[in-house]
Amino acid sequence: MRVAEKGLLVTDELTERASDARRRSDALFNLLREDAFYDRPIPERHRIVFYVGHLEAFDWNLLKELRPGLKSAHPEFDRLFAFGIDPVGGGLPTDLPSDWPSLEIVRDYVNHVRGTLDRNLASIILEPNSQTRDGFPPRTLFNAAIEHRLMHVETLAYMLHQLPLDAKVRQPNSLPLAGPPIVQRMVSIPAGVVTLGLARSPERFGWDNEYAAHTVDVPAFEIDRHKVTNRQYIEFMAAGGYETHALWEEDDWNWKTAHGIFHPLFWKREGNRSSGQTSGQTSGHTWLWQTMFDEVPLPLDWPVYVSQAEAAAYAHWAGKSLPTEAEWQRAAYGTIDGATRPYPWGNGDEAPNAQLGNFDFHRWDPVPVNAFPDCQSAFGVHDLLGNGWEWTSTAFGPFPDFEPFPFYRGYSADFFDGKHFVMKGGSARTAACMLRSTFRNWFQAHYQYVYAGFRCVNR
Ligand SMILES: [Fe+2]
Repeated sequence: MRVAEKGLLVTDELTERASDARRRSDALFNLLREDAFYDRPIPERHRIVFYVGHLEAFDWNLLKELRPGLKSAHPEFDRLFAFGIDPVGGGLPTDLPSDWPSLEIVRDYVNHVRGTLDRNLASIILEPNSQTRDGFPPRTLFNAAIEHRLMHVETLAYMLHQLPLDAKVRQPNSLPLAGPPIVQRMVSIPAGVVTLGLARSPERFGWDNEYAAHTVDVPAFEIDRHKVTNRQYIEFMAAGGYETHALWEEDDWNWKTAHGIFHPLFWKREGNRSSGQTSGQTSGHTWLWQTMFDEVPLPLDWPVYVSQAEAAAYAHWAGKSLPTEAEWQRAAYGTIDGATRPYPWGNGDEAPNAQLGNFDFHRWDPVPVNAFPDCQSAFGVHDLLGNGWEWTSTAFGPFPDFEPFPFYRGYSADFFDGKHFVMKGGSARTAACMLRSTFRNWFQAHYQYVYAGFRCVNR
């Protein structure tokens, strides 16, 4: 895909970022053996081949308006690959592999779209005052295209994670990181004000759900210094956490029971060391953790990755709660003197880099929750960015003055349904640009496939 390497878009900075995003999505698909493209590793999602076409269909449908008169070479594919799916409450997709075009044809479409966009959008660079018909600068649309692709690079990693190991071309392991013994304690956060959301400015890109900036009073609370680890979660399981109805919201209990869930999705029972143990009677030696390319003995100091329903049940068992979005934001970006940091660490002015946390594609899998001691907030809360998103108890909803992006109306608004919950932070596969303080992620409470864990609060 040589055209992809050129990426002739708007400015040098955007050109470079667009090319980098394309390289990352190409590299991810290149991990797959050919016959895996028609698999559906996550039952609620499309087959993988959809996403090969989707990234380009999205770019095309979004960016074509910048050059009025541009003609599509394949309007049928522009529609076929336009939208992902997120079914709530059952209703799984039933399409067959034979319903999809061949990989060769989809790849031709990808190359054609890239070439057409690159040839026709290059001169937008020379038109700094140009606007879309909705009054946005082209830069906003390019940023949306880049971040949309990078978000899929992360969610595709969740998908590839669930494939059998032999469906993927194994990549070299990154060096394991180890920290000193973990001292789990709670950190006191004094009452104060926190700013949520992004101030409107043509200079900075944010998605529609990040607007507008507003302040929230947060009463004093305590929060876990570190994310909850696999070691801690074992205690919850050993105490019968999955079997104790009273710990679960009714809806969550019904979901857990209907699907026979009694351990985190990323944990696998070790087959050849059976000790006769059953759910709720467990130890660290009976479980494996499925990494992207391997299975390893359960790493006890890694953050546990679970659904929001499982996280909430654990918090209930521990006599605590999940943080609200505002509490998490204050613990991460607030300071004792009332100022706000752009990032949790240091003075907040250092850009994300590989020494500060497990993010931006340096690793495939988690590391111990105390592996990056420099990644702590002004209040001394660790590991807030990277190494796994963190669930909050806040249902995903609009901030005051929310307006959907007219060029992507459903991006956020389709999920303001009380069934999706805000996650903050980031994972090993979250791009650095989306580590900004205002970025909000969200998933259904029962979605187990995300690289997401949690920490608890006391109020
Ligand atoms: Fe998408």
